[in-house]
Amino acid sequence: MITLKDVSYRYEGSERLAISNLSLTLKNNEWVAILGQNGSGKSTLGRLFNGLLTPVSGTVKVDGFSTSDESSLWEVRKRVGMVFQNPDHQFVATTVRDDIAFGLENRGIEREEMLRRIDLYSKQVGVNQLLDKEPHRLSGGQKQRVAIAGIIALEPDFIIFDEATSMLDPIGRLDVLKTMRNLHKQGLSILSITHDMEEAALSDRVVVLNQGTIIEDGSPSNVFRSVEWIGKAGLAMPFSLKLQKELESQGVTLDTMCLSEKELVDSLWTYSSKK
Ligand SMILES: Nc1ncnc2c1ncn2[C@@H]1O[C@H](COP(=O)(O)OP(=O)(O)O)[C@@H](O)[C@H]1O
Ligand SMILES: [Mg+2]
Repeated sequence: MITLKDVSYRYEGSERLAISNLSLTLKNNEWVAILGQNGSGKSTLGRLFNGLLTPVSGTVKVDGFSTSDESSLWEVRKRVGMVFQNPDHQFVATTVRDDIAFGLENRGIEREEMLRRIDLYSKQVGVNQLLDKEPHRLSGGQKQRVAIAGIIALEPDFIIFDEATSMLDPIGRLDVLKTMRNLHKQGLSILSITHDMEEAALSDRVVVLNQGTIIEDGSPSNVFRSVEWIGKAGLAMPFSLKLQKELESQGVTLDTMCLSEKELVDSLWTYSSKK
């Protein structure tokens, strides 16, 4: 469990708070999407979760270990892994295998166990055929999956994806989303930081950030039911939702919130077949 209590963060030299008096609890096995426009504080929050940043006031605790306590950071980092936006900035080794091994070596994992984990986790995210390849030769989606393998090999409880799909082409993006879904099914807690409402809709819970504070928190269907906050949060309404709202104003009321064109098409089929 990750618990934030009255957390504020200010970057050195900055006048305003990047995170302002924020409280939030993340339970194990949840998939939480942190949604907000650029500059709303998402990445800052992500870095507070795993102790890369420590609050100027308030506390962040992971399973009771405070990130402000230097001697707890090891325990914190063991539990919370992070995948970043740019797939090219995450590699340290010249082969995929060595790259996954790097984190394990750092933790002093024995060779036998290391080989077992490389095999297991590379299979789990479908990069086991790529172990001898050079990371920089892979596609964006493959690179992100290698980065994910490196993280899950450390067997964390939480994995934070900070806009991890935003630099990928549509295929790479679907690849990574599918991987996230599988990891969640296997019991990992997923934190996906995104400004993409469709990606947020895949989660169990959506937390919307605006100017370093939470303005919405709930299930996707509840959060997306009201749309007033979308403008306030500075986000672009998905095309499907815009069209749905337009249809509603013309008297066509659909049962579900349509966050993707597929959902909209499906709902329209259902609607027209009921008439
Ligand atoms: N290294 C930094 N130094 C100073 N200010 C920063 C730094 N990183 C982010 N900020 C500021 O903190 C606020 C939140 O940024 P960030 O957490 O990166 O938002 P997001 O990830 O939602 O785009 C913004 O106003 C941003 O300009
Ligand atoms: Mg960010």
